[in-house]
Amino acid sequence: MKDKTIDLKPVAKIVPKYSRDYESNLIAILQETQDVYGYLPKSVMKEISKLTDVPLTRIFGVVTFYSQFTLTPRGKHAIKICNGTACHVRGVDEVKEKVKEHLNVSEGETTADFKFTLETVACIGTCFLAPVMMVDDRYFGKLTTESVTDVVKEYSN
Ligand code: FES
Repeated sequence: MKDKTIDLKPVAKIVPKYSRDYESNLIAILQETQDVYGYLPKSVMKEISKLTDVPLTRIFGVVTFYSQFTLTPRGKHAIKICNGTACHVRGVDEVKEKVKEHLNVSEGETTADFKFTLETVACIGTCFLAPVMMVDDRYFGKLTTESVTDVVKEYSN
């Protein structure tokens, strides 16, 4: 989707809710806006700047500082595969290759249908489940190439 085709009406609805103090509510405004668009397009950030009088450079600074924000379109589901030592030892590489094969993407990429974004992350703190991955907020552990296929299928529907 090209930036100029983006509907800015949702921004016009979100921003006034925070009119008491735009500056200190900037993160909340950006979060709510990202929830609507799935990411923060440049035209949307410009509109937020226009409506709030917060400089675009400041908005951009916040968006690039916090990892929860993204400037590129993301898939509906975020798959995070653990790259930590315990998962590595227990064969996460094979699991990861299987996911890549199913989705036809590399790490950091989003599928053509915008259903999935694939990421690898450092230890997510559930080493007893190694090898482990998360899909959105759900953990899937003791993964095999077979079980991970079932997980991907479950979310593909
Ligand atoms: S190394 Fe994967 S959860 Fe800790």
